[in-house]
Amino acid sequence: MSIIDVTSDPIPQLPPRKAESHKGSYGRVLVVGGSRGKAGAAALAGKSALRSGAGLVTVLVPCSIQATVASFEPAVMTIGMGKVNCDELLQEFEPEIREHASEMNCLAVGPGLGTNSSTVRLVQALYHRISETMIVDADALNALSAWRDGLQHPSGPRILTPHPGEFKRLTGETCAIEPTARAEQAASLCRRDLTGQTIVVLKGHHTILTDGNRVAFNQTGNPGMATGGTGDVLTGVISALVAQGLTLWDAARLGVHVHGLAGDLATETFGQVSLIASDLLNSLPAAFKKSE
Ligand code: APR
Ligand code: MG
Repeated sequence: MSIIDVTSDPIPQLPPRKAESHKGSYGRVLVVGGSRGKAGAAALAGKSALRSGAGLVTVLVPCSIQATVASFEPAVMTIGMGKVNCDELLQEFEPEIREHASEMNCLAVGPGLGTNSSTVRLVQALYHRISETMIVDADALNALSAWRDGLQHPSGPRILTPHPGEFKRLTGETCAIEPTARAEQAASLCRRDLTGQTIVVLKGHHTILTDGNRVAFNQTGNPGMATGGTGDVLTGVISALVAQGLTLWDAARLGVHVHGLAGDLATETFGQVSLIASDLLNSLPAAFKKSE
């Protein structure tokens, strides 16, 4: 099947904020992630969602790292799950997590989540049972890779954000170097979802976005962004745009564009060698302003 290249279409915009609005008007995001040693991934995603305009952001993590995650940014709320010394989010908390999810406009699942077997079962259950839009990233993609048929029937809209390594784990395929061939591969991952509610964001230089019918190649960003945690920032950005009511496609397109632009602006101060994910996060305000 051939896909239409819409790279030259204008980048979507967030609507201007209305004077008569409140934080509830801009949506609620729930980040589900984190594990011992990877608290920062969940924290980066949460703070990035706030910097991208979400009205309320909550990060749900194992109890063992809740205080750490809470200490990064006071405006981010946290929920701790499990026993104080428990390392991972356990499958037994799935009903409770689903209850929190039902109050949200968008979920971002995966940053720093870890890959133990109960986490894998939790992700699969959420993927299948949650009707809210879910950004599926990092270890959540790894959790789904053992379960290829499971991608056929998500219970709601999904944005999958693999890097080429995660893409290979999910599909068994090495990403092609040639952009059109790579886009076809991303589109066929989309089409695994028989309900047609999935968008794939295949990350890298000129990140590819596709809904299975159309494709766009992102034009912002630079190799300075090849540093741990920048993907977690992207997950937070896209989740906030979904929570503010953009369509899945528009949220992914604007999110990837602004994220790359923030990376470009951050290199003006830090250079490509020294750039780290928190610099990129701190450049989101300038990137949003510039893309208005
Ligand atoms: N040019 C432009 N953009 C780039 C480049 C490049 N050369 N290299 C990387 N990027 C961008 C990607 O497009 C993407 O948006 O930086 C981001 C990197 O995202 P990830 O690969 O997910 O990296 P990271 O944030 O470090 O992931 C953190 O999640 O995926 C897991 O295994 C990963 O544990 C790690 C964690
Ligand atoms: Mg990542």
